[in-house]
Amino acid sequence: MSSPLPAAVLIAPGTGEMTGRTRRYEKRYDDLDGLFLDQAAFAAIAGTRGSEVAYQVDEFRPSDNAGDIIFGTSTLYAGRVGTEFIFTRGHIHAVSDRPEIYFCQSGHGIMLMELADGTVRVEEMTPNSVVYVAPHWIHRSVNVGSEPLVTLFCYPADAGQDYEIIARAGGMRDLIVDDGAGGWKQVPNPRYRPRNTAPGHV
Ligand SMILES: [Fe+2]
Repeated sequence: MSSPLPAAVLIAPGTGEMTGRTRRYEKRYDDLDGLFLDQAAFAAIAGTRGSEVAYQVDEFRPSDNAGDIIFGTSTLYAGRVGTEFIFTRGHIHAVSDRPEIYFCQSGHGIMLMELADGTVRVEEMTPNSVVYVAPHWIHRSVNVGSEPLVTLFCYPADAGQDYEIIARAGGMRDLIVDDGAGGWKQVPNPRYRPRNTAPGHV
């Protein structure tokens, strides 16, 4: 097992760019096909801006060792697909009892969280707020503002990610949409199919 060395990184204000990262990945609009309810609105955006970056993640991953931590920044650019605010794909940790924290550096967002049985919690993210994503909660960031939503995350290095738990249910139970008055609201997702939470089915 490797033994990581101490390190420090620098995070740029406003963009989340992390100097000293070990990895960056980007998700473009084309990568988000099928995730939003309004498919016609998505097709119109993807037709002209499909290669545009919707969000990027810079991470510092010392190792995958149990007991180590992974941290990094997520920068989710502002946008909407129809009335739905732009979001990250979202996941549950593959080792589902592993938690995570998100510190909001800038922007205005929602952490949309859901248990496998469909219980939903939302927590608002504004500069200097910290959201604790408890073990077993699916989590997705939503940008409900007009600036990039920049968050610093940190989670156990052996957590892993399972993205399919959301796809299997037709998306998350609730959508975060424009309320028509400059804010956001939470509405039921008509495509949501409750999961079978009996043992062996989740
Ligand atoms: Fe996570």
